[in-house]
Amino acid sequence: MAGLTGHSKQRYVANMFARIAGRYDLMNTLMTGGLHLRWKRKTARFTSRGLTGSALDIATGTGDLAFSLARCPGIIHTVGVDFLPEMISLARSKAKTKGLSGKTSLLVGDAHSLPFSDGEFCCTTAGFSLRNMSNLDQALSEMVRVVRPGGRVGTLELTPLPPGRLAGPIRFYSQRLVPAMGGLVTGDRAAYTYLPESVGYFREAAELSASLTRLGLVNVGYLKLGFGSVTLHWGEKPE
Ligand SMILES: C[S@@+](CC[C@H](N)C(=O)[O-])C[C@H]1O[C@@H](n2cnc3c(N)ncnc32)[C@H](O)[C@@H]1O
Repeated sequence: MAGLTGHSKQRYVANMFARIAGRYDLMNTLMTGGLHLRWKRKTARFTSRGLTGSALDIATGTGDLAFSLARCPGIIHTVGVDFLPEMISLARSKAKTKGLSGKTSLLVGDAHSLPFSDGEFCCTTAGFSLRNMSNLDQALSEMVRVVRPGGRVGTLELTPLPPGRLAGPIRFYSQRLVPAMGGLVTGDRAAYTYLPESVGYFREAAELSASLTRLGLVNVGYLKLGFGSVTLHWGEKPE
């Protein structure tokens, strides 16, 4: 299923996330021992550093990365967009609980065709969502389009593991234990089998950097997290 492309991929991804939305946060916390929140805070800080204005988080899910952006110095307002109304509804409830409703707008929308004008945001982020895009370059190019010159794009994603001592144990964890855990917690083993499969189909960290450079970003860089299983990328739109 992870090898699907185009509309079939978009439909598959939408159905899958609609099924697991209610248990999505719990599974993230169980799978990463809570580290996903620390990685999202880091992504928000890295992407927004030194900038002032509004921030956008695409494919925001239940909103964690959007909330981290909203708490960064210089960020006046944050918008989170996801194509699933189920996710947006959960994100809105969380924004209320966290007292961030006034600083965060959560909207239904497709990352391939963002409903914003060119240069509207000082920065844009994507957390664990690029793997799910039916057209990755289109989604990245939309992130770049809506950032103003001098602004920054930041992405956080599971990337294929380089060979090394930890590759075997991490692969065993993600390919065997995560699907079993996902089956128990969400009743949807297939969704958590798709997860490690989709990583195998995704671009290596250096390739994703090259994609950001091709889109015109400068000072592109990346940082490996989670024993090399997660990569934080960033790049700046030239003035
Ligand atoms: C793995 S979740 C990541 C959610 C959140 N960013 C996080 O880090 O926890 C992927 C999210 O991408 C959303 N998504 C997938 N394709 C999308 C698209 N084309 N436009 C907007 N959202 C999309 C899904 O609905 C889902 O909420």
